Amino acid sequence: MIHIDPKERMFIIGSTLLLVAFAIVVGLSAFAYGVQLPAPEQRVDPQTVATPGVSRFGDPLDERVRELAPGRYEVYMLARAWSFSPNRIQVPAGSTVTFYLTSVDVQHGFQIERTNVNMMVLPGQVSKLTAKFDKPGTYNFICHEYCGVGHHTMFGQIIVEP
Ligand code: CUA
Repeated sequence: MIHIDPKERMFIIGSTLLLVAFAIVVGLSAFAYGVQLPAPEQRVDPQTVATPGVSRFGDPLDERVRELAPGRYEVYMLARAWSFSPNRIQVPAGSTVTFYLTSVDVQHGFQIERTNVNMMVLPGQVSKLTAKFDKPGTYNFICHEYCGVGHHTMFGQIIVEP
């Protein structure tokens, strides 16, 4: 047995317990509360990504919200200084919606109130996050990365119908 000073032992035990506590908190938030990190889904060319035929982001506006299966939707949303398109989305309550976002110019943000959706939207990268909308109502979303003089006008709504 090596000798460990009682105070040092106290700090070793304390810091180990702290690591265990952090691991539990991360595990709970990921698996019990559904907190996800937005992963870079795909690389794209911001110059051409919104061109029709090049990617889903170039599709007509009404085709960028698609029902994949009953209650499962995907949304291809473009961020451009200073608006989102589409900026008004309607889904029935109980829907699971996967959001794909990219920017054609500068760095933007995307946050939907009362959900875990909060991510950066970067030119050249597609960001992806999924949220479930159980309660009917209006969910506002905003750009929360300062992107120029029109930053405060970048917002939209998700209407969850009963
Ligand atoms: Cu886009 Cu702030």
